[in-house]
Amino acid sequence: MKPFTAIIPAAGKGVRLLPYTANMPKTMITVAGKPILGHILDQVESLGIKKVVFIVGYKKEAIVEFVQSQYPHLDVTFVEQPEPKGLGHAVYLAKPYVAGPCFVLLGDTIVDGDLKPLVFGGKNAIGIRTVQDPSRFGIVEMKNGRIVSFEEKPEKPKSNLAIIGAYAFLESAQLFDALEEVIRSGKTVKNEIQLTDALSVLLGRGVEIVPVEMDDWFDCGTVEVLLQTNRLLLDRHHQVPAEVEKQNKIIPPCWIAEGVSARNCVLGPYVSVAYEAELTECTLQDVIVGPQTKFTHKTASHVVLDKYNL
Ligand code: G1P
Repeated sequence: MKPFTAIIPAAGKGVRLLPYTANMPKTMITVAGKPILGHILDQVESLGIKKVVFIVGYKKEAIVEFVQSQYPHLDVTFVEQPEPKGLGHAVYLAKPYVAGPCFVLLGDTIVDGDLKPLVFGGKNAIGIRTVQDPSRFGIVEMKNGRIVSFEEKPEKPKSNLAIIGAYAFLESAQLFDALEEVIRSGKTVKNEIQLTDALSVLLGRGVEIVPVEMDDWFDCGTVEVLLQTNRLLLDRHHQVPAEVEKQNKIIPPCWIAEGVSARNCVLGPYVSVAYEAELTECTLQDVIVGPQTKFTHKTASHVVLDKYNL
């Protein structure tokens, strides 16, 4: 079997995360010490996938710069989606650069668990999870353990099993062909060409897609959920460089990136600080600090601070 290519759609603006997305794309928002995209690329690397196609658009320079500086060993292609025509359209744009199996991981999807059963299970597969608010998601309907229908953001959901944004396709040509059919038909949901509708086309053609339950999926849809995700991830992973530990009072759990400069601060619990940040004499609790963010004498709790929003 050919090696998998990862497709990461990251062209969207992330309006629900304004004002943080006013100056950077959603995938570059920090959670648990690194941009969402960093979590995604760590997953891609842990799967042994070397080839990655990014679909970019809004503030694409930030993504290109991050990937080239932090993940120089990956074989990457950036494809621009000039207009926000939807996730289905975004994925379709990867067609010229992908052959054989592909793994699609949405640019705002943090999975903190093992994706190998989903990607290397030998079948077309999608990650699903039970959610409280199904009308915000793509939904699968199951009968006797099999998926019988897909629907994107239905008003009256037939189940509360949401598509989390991780999809494995054994033959990408089948996916692109289904997307082409959706595009040709002119079908849109909320004015966008949907990947979920291509899944329906595949299902209609008798292609098997198996659901894989992923409890370790973390939503980053709104600021409140972002802070909650930060806390949940810090409960699982924390690190404080020795130098930072020495010069500050740390209340665990915190995730402070290597090389961060912090002096005379009280940090924690639930503070994450991303690379190249500089903090002096601050008291922070339940705070996400983005990369290259520099401030002094600040007391803050339950907020996201980045170099554009202090
Ligand atoms: C997309 C997909 C949807 C999926 C969701 C997961 O929607 O279209 O099927 O459930 O991601 O986050 P979006 O969040 O881009 O509106």
